[in-house]
Amino acid sequence: MKFIDKGKQANKKLYRKWMVISLSAIMAALAAMWFYIHDWNVEQSMRALAEAVAIEETATEAPKEEAAMPVEPEETETSVEEEPAAEEKTDATIYPADSALPEAPTVINGVLLANKQHPLPATYAPGEVPEARAAFETMKAAAAENGLNLSAFSTYRDFARQKQLYEGYTAKDGQEAADRYSARPGYSEHQTGLAFDIGEAGKEQHWASASFGDTKGGKWLAANAHAYGFILRYPEGSEHITGYMHESWHFRYVGKDVAADIHQKGITLEEYLGVQ
Ligand code: DAL
Ligand code: ZN
Repeated sequence: MKFIDKGKQANKKLYRKWMVISLSAIMAALAAMWFYIHDWNVEQSMRALAEAVAIEETATEAPKEEAAMPVEPEETETSVEEEPAAEEKTDATIYPADSALPEAPTVINGVLLANKQHPLPATYAPGEVPEARAAFETMKAAAAENGLNLSAFSTYRDFARQKQLYEGYTAKDGQEAADRYSARPGYSEHQTGLAFDIGEAGKEQHWASASFGDTKGGKWLAANAHAYGFILRYPEGSEHITGYMHESWHFRYVGKDVAADIHQKGITLEEYLGVQ
Protein backbone atom coordinates (compact mmCIF):
# COMPACT_ATOMS: atom_id res chain seq x y z
CA MET A 1 0.00 0.00 0.00
CA LYS A 2 2.84 2.39 0.95
CA PHE A 3 4.54 1.74 -2.41
CA ILE A 4 1.33 2.56 -4.27
CA ASP A 5 0.92 5.80 -2.23
CA LYS A 6 4.51 6.88 -3.02
CA GLY A 7 3.90 6.30 -6.69
CA LYS A 8 0.79 8.45 -6.66
CA GLN A 9 2.66 11.23 -4.82
CA ALA A 10 5.47 11.14 -7.40
CA ASN A 11 2.89 11.48 -10.20
CA LYS A 12 1.29 14.44 -8.50
CA LYS A 13 4.67 16.22 -8.09
CA LEU A 14 5.47 15.60 -11.73
CA TYR A 15 2.07 16.97 -12.76
CA ARG A 16 2.54 20.17 -10.68
CA LYS A 17 6.05 20.66 -12.13
CA TRP A 18 4.63 20.45 -15.65
CA MET A 19 1.81 22.83 -14.81
CA VAL A 20 4.28 25.45 -13.44
CA ILE A 21 6.54 25.03 -16.45
CA SER A 22 3.57 25.29 -18.86
CA LEU A 23 2.13 28.41 -17.16
CA SER A 24 5.56 30.06 -17.04
CA ALA A 25 6.00 29.28 -20.72
CA ILE A 26 2.61 30.82 -21.54
CA MET A 27 3.39 33.95 -19.42
CA ALA A 28 6.81 34.29 -21.06
CA ALA A 29 5.22 33.91 -24.51
CA LEU A 30 2.59 36.60 -23.68
CA ALA A 31 5.27 38.93 -22.29
CA ALA A 32 7.37 38.35 -25.42
CA MET A 33 4.34 39.13 -27.57
CA TRP A 34 3.63 42.38 -25.59
CA PHE A 35 7.27 43.47 -25.99
CA TYR A 36 7.20 42.47 -29.68
CA ILE A 37 4.03 44.57 -30.25
CA HIS A 38 5.82 47.55 -28.64
CA ASP A 39 8.98 47.21 -30.72
CA TRP A 40 10.96 45.48 -27.93
CA ASN A 41 10.93 48.85 -26.08
CA VAL A 42 10.66 48.26 -22.33
CA GLU A 43 9.57 51.85 -21.46
CA GLN A 44 6.91 51.92 -24.19
CA SER A 45 5.64 48.50 -23.13
CA MET A 46 5.32 49.50 -19.47
CA ARG A 47 3.53 52.78 -20.33
CA ALA A 48 1.10 50.88 -22.55
CA LEU A 49 0.45 48.48 -19.70
CA ALA A 50 -0.17 51.35 -17.26
CA GLU A 51 -2.56 53.06 -19.72
CA ALA A 52 -4.47 49.82 -20.27
CA VAL A 53 -5.01 49.48 -16.51
CA ALA A 54 -6.04 53.19 -16.21
CA ILE A 55 -8.61 52.89 -19.04
CA GLU A 56 -10.08 49.88 -17.31
CA GLU A 57 -10.48 51.86 -14.04
CA THR A 58 -12.05 54.91 -15.77
CA ALA A 59 -14.53 52.70 -17.58
CA THR A 60 -15.60 51.25 -14.23
CA GLU A 61 -16.04 54.70 -12.61
CA ALA A 62 -17.84 56.43 -15.55
CA PRO A 63 -21.44 55.60 -14.56
CA LYS A 64 -20.78 57.00 -11.06
CA GLU A 65 -19.65 60.33 -12.56
CA GLU A 66 -22.74 60.55 -14.74
CA ALA A 67 -25.01 59.84 -11.81
CA ALA A 68 -23.25 62.53 -9.82
CA MET A 69 -23.88 65.21 -12.49
CA PRO A 70 -26.21 67.71 -10.70
CA VAL A 71 -28.06 69.30 -13.62
CA GLU A 72 -28.42 68.67 -17.34
CA PRO A 73 -26.18 71.20 -19.17
CA GLU A 74 -29.17 72.60 -21.09
CA GLU A 75 -31.09 73.35 -17.90
CA THR A 76 -28.07 75.13 -16.42
CA GLU A 77 -27.87 77.36 -19.51
CA THR A 78 -31.58 78.24 -19.34
CA SER A 79 -31.49 79.23 -15.69
CA VAL A 80 -28.39 81.36 -16.27
CA GLU A 81 -30.23 83.21 -19.07
CA GLU A 82 -33.33 83.77 -16.95
CA GLU A 83 -31.49 85.36 -14.03
CA PRO A 84 -30.62 88.76 -15.57
CA ALA A 85 -34.25 89.21 -16.67
CA ALA A 86 -35.37 88.69 -13.08
CA GLU A 87 -32.74 91.14 -11.85
CA GLU A 88 -33.90 93.79 -14.35
CA LYS A 89 -37.30 93.98 -12.67
CA THR A 90 -37.36 96.69 -10.03
CA ASP A 91 -39.91 97.50 -7.34
CA ALA A 92 -41.45 100.55 -9.03
CA THR A 93 -42.85 101.84 -5.74
CA ILE A 94 -39.34 102.74 -4.53
CA TYR A 95 -37.77 106.08 -5.44
CA PRO A 96 -34.10 105.87 -6.51
CA ALA A 97 -31.55 107.00 -3.90
CA ASP A 98 -30.39 109.80 -6.21
CA SER A 99 -33.20 112.35 -6.03
CA ALA A 100 -31.67 114.81 -8.52
CA LEU A 101 -34.15 115.75 -11.23
CA PRO A 102 -33.00 115.35 -14.88
CA GLU A 103 -32.32 117.95 -17.56
CA ALA A 104 -34.95 116.46 -19.89
CA PRO A 105 -37.99 114.16 -19.62
CA THR A 106 -37.82 110.48 -20.64
CA VAL A 107 -39.32 109.71 -24.04
CA ILE A 108 -39.39 106.07 -25.22
CA ASN A 109 -40.54 105.30 -28.78
CA GLY A 110 -42.17 108.72 -28.90
CA VAL A 111 -44.07 108.19 -25.63
CA LEU A 112 -43.33 110.43 -22.65
CA LEU A 113 -42.85 108.52 -19.40
CA ALA A 114 -43.14 110.00 -15.90
CA ASN A 115 -42.97 107.74 -12.85
CA LYS A 116 -40.90 107.22 -9.69
CA GLN A 117 -37.92 106.02 -11.73
CA HIS A 118 -38.33 108.58 -14.53
CA PRO A 119 -38.82 112.10 -13.14
CA LEU A 120 -39.20 115.39 -14.98
CA PRO A 121 -37.14 118.58 -14.79
CA ALA A 122 -38.66 120.97 -12.23
CA THR A 123 -38.89 123.51 -15.03
CA TYR A 124 -40.84 121.21 -17.37
CA ALA A 125 -44.12 123.11 -17.73
CA PRO A 126 -45.98 122.36 -20.98
CA GLY A 127 -49.43 123.19 -19.60
CA GLU A 128 -52.41 121.04 -20.56
CA VAL A 129 -51.59 119.46 -23.93
CA PRO A 130 -54.17 120.64 -26.54
CA GLU A 131 -54.22 117.26 -28.38
CA ALA A 132 -55.10 115.52 -25.10
CA ARG A 133 -57.82 118.07 -24.31
CA ALA A 134 -59.32 117.65 -27.82
CA ALA A 135 -59.36 113.86 -27.36
CA PHE A 136 -61.07 114.28 -23.98
CA GLU A 137 -63.77 116.51 -25.51
CA THR A 138 -64.43 113.91 -28.24
CA MET A 139 -64.69 111.22 -25.56
CA LYS A 140 -66.95 113.41 -23.43
CA ALA A 141 -69.31 113.83 -26.41
CA ALA A 142 -69.43 110.07 -26.95
CA ALA A 143 -70.07 109.48 -23.23
CA ALA A 144 -72.90 112.04 -23.30
CA GLU A 145 -74.67 109.85 -25.87
CA ASN A 146 -74.64 107.16 -23.17
CA GLY A 147 -76.14 109.52 -20.57
CA LEU A 148 -72.83 110.35 -18.89
CA ASN A 149 -71.60 113.85 -18.13
CA LEU A 150 -67.84 113.47 -17.81
CA SER A 151 -65.74 116.10 -16.05
CA ALA A 152 -61.93 116.35 -16.05
CA PHE A 153 -61.57 117.69 -12.51
CA SER A 154 -57.74 117.77 -12.45
CA THR A 155 -55.40 117.79 -15.46
CA TYR A 156 -52.15 119.78 -15.73
CA ARG A 157 -50.35 120.55 -12.46
CA ASP A 158 -47.01 122.31 -12.42
CA PHE A 159 -44.09 121.42 -10.11
CA ALA A 160 -45.08 123.97 -7.46
CA ARG A 161 -48.71 122.79 -7.33
CA GLN A 162 -47.64 119.13 -7.03
CA LYS A 163 -45.23 120.09 -4.21
CA GLN A 164 -48.07 121.80 -2.36
CA LEU A 165 -50.39 118.79 -2.79
CA TYR A 166 -47.77 116.19 -1.84
CA GLU A 167 -46.73 118.09 1.27
CA GLY A 168 -50.36 118.38 2.32
CA TYR A 169 -50.88 114.62 1.91
CA THR A 170 -47.69 113.70 3.82
CA ALA A 171 -48.73 116.03 6.65
CA LYS A 172 -52.15 114.36 6.78
CA ASP A 173 -51.29 110.64 6.20
CA GLY A 174 -47.50 110.42 6.66
CA GLN A 175 -44.95 109.99 3.87
CA GLU A 176 -45.21 106.21 3.50
CA ALA A 177 -48.96 106.29 2.91
CA ALA A 178 -48.84 109.45 0.76
CA ASP A 179 -46.19 107.93 -1.51
CA ARG A 180 -48.65 105.22 -2.51
CA TYR A 181 -51.18 107.65 -4.01
CA SER A 182 -49.43 110.99 -4.54
CA ALA A 183 -46.31 111.69 -6.60
CA ARG A 184 -43.47 113.74 -5.17
CA PRO A 185 -42.90 117.03 -7.04
CA GLY A 186 -41.07 116.34 -10.30
CA TYR A 187 -42.46 112.80 -10.52
CA SER A 188 -46.13 113.42 -11.31
CA GLU A 189 -47.65 112.50 -14.63
CA HIS A 190 -49.92 115.52 -14.16
CA GLN A 191 -46.86 117.70 -14.80
CA THR A 192 -46.73 116.31 -18.38
CA GLY A 193 -50.10 117.87 -19.29
CA LEU A 194 -51.24 114.46 -20.53
CA ALA A 195 -52.94 113.12 -17.37
CA PHE A 196 -56.68 113.61 -16.81
CA ASP A 197 -58.47 112.81 -13.57
CA ILE A 198 -62.01 112.10 -14.69
CA GLY A 199 -65.33 111.86 -12.86
CA GLU A 200 -69.00 112.58 -13.50
CA ALA A 201 -70.43 116.08 -12.98
CA GLY A 202 -72.94 115.93 -10.14
CA LYS A 203 -71.34 112.81 -8.64
CA GLU A 204 -68.46 114.53 -6.87
CA GLN A 205 -68.59 112.01 -4.01
CA HIS A 206 -66.86 109.53 -6.37
CA TRP A 207 -64.16 111.94 -7.59
CA ALA A 208 -60.65 110.64 -6.85
CA SER A 209 -62.25 107.74 -5.02
CA ALA A 210 -61.97 103.98 -5.55
CA SER A 211 -65.79 103.91 -5.70
CA PHE A 212 -65.67 105.62 -9.14
CA GLY A 213 -64.59 102.29 -10.67
CA ASP A 214 -67.95 100.78 -9.67
CA THR A 215 -70.04 103.57 -11.19
CA LYS A 216 -71.49 103.55 -14.71
CA GLY A 217 -69.07 106.34 -15.70
CA GLY A 218 -66.03 104.50 -14.30
CA LYS A 219 -66.98 101.28 -16.08
CA TRP A 220 -67.65 103.08 -19.36
CA LEU A 221 -64.25 104.79 -19.25
CA ALA A 222 -62.40 101.57 -18.40
CA ALA A 223 -64.00 99.90 -21.42
CA ASN A 224 -63.92 102.77 -23.95
CA ALA A 225 -61.22 105.35 -23.13
CA HIS A 226 -58.65 103.58 -25.32
CA ALA A 227 -60.76 104.36 -28.42
CA TYR A 228 -60.07 108.06 -27.74
CA GLY A 229 -56.35 107.63 -26.96
CA PHE A 230 -56.52 107.30 -23.15
CA ILE A 231 -55.31 104.46 -20.92
CA LEU A 232 -56.24 103.65 -17.33
CA ARG A 233 -52.80 104.51 -16.00
CA TYR A 234 -52.77 102.76 -12.61
CA PRO A 235 -54.69 99.49 -12.97
CA GLU A 236 -55.61 97.21 -10.08
CA GLY A 237 -52.81 94.88 -8.92
CA SER A 238 -50.06 96.83 -10.72
CA GLU A 239 -48.63 98.96 -7.91
CA HIS A 240 -45.27 97.13 -8.10
CA ILE A 241 -45.05 98.06 -11.81
CA THR A 242 -46.56 101.57 -11.98
CA GLY A 243 -45.49 102.66 -8.50
CA TYR A 244 -48.99 103.73 -7.39
CA MET A 245 -52.18 102.25 -5.99
CA HIS A 246 -55.06 101.61 -8.35
CA GLU A 247 -56.71 104.88 -9.48
CA SER A 248 -59.95 104.25 -11.37
CA TRP A 249 -60.18 107.95 -12.29
CA HIS A 250 -56.65 108.72 -13.58
CA PHE A 251 -56.34 108.46 -17.37
CA ARG A 252 -53.28 109.19 -19.48
CA TYR A 253 -53.37 110.35 -23.08
CA VAL A 254 -50.99 108.30 -25.27
CA GLY A 255 -52.76 108.45 -28.65
CA LYS A 256 -55.20 105.97 -30.17
CA ASP A 257 -52.73 103.38 -31.54
CA VAL A 258 -50.71 103.01 -28.34
CA ALA A 259 -53.85 103.09 -26.18
CA ALA A 260 -55.54 100.37 -28.26
CA ASP A 261 -52.43 98.17 -28.08
CA ILE A 262 -52.04 98.60 -24.31
CA HIS A 263 -55.77 97.98 -23.73
CA GLN A 264 -55.84 94.88 -25.94
CA LYS A 265 -52.75 93.42 -24.24
CA GLY A 266 -54.03 94.32 -20.77
CA ILE A 267 -50.65 95.72 -19.70
CA THR A 268 -49.31 98.86 -18.06
CA LEU A 269 -47.45 101.71 -19.77
CA GLU A 270 -44.24 100.56 -18.07
CA GLU A 271 -44.60 97.06 -19.55
CA TYR A 272 -45.51 98.47 -22.97
CA LEU A 273 -42.38 100.63 -22.99
CA GLY A 274 -40.25 97.75 -21.71
CA VAL A 275 -39.06 99.41 -18.51
CA GLN A 276 -40.55 96.64 -16.35
N1 DAL B 1 -51.97 110.59 -8.04
C1 DAL B 1 -50.89 110.52 -8.98
C2 DAL B 1 -50.07 109.32 -8.75
C3 DAL B 1 -50.04 111.76 -8.92
O1 DAL B 1 -49.96 112.36 -7.84
O2 DAL B 1 -49.45 112.08 -9.91
ZN1 ZN C 1 -54.30 111.79 -11.45
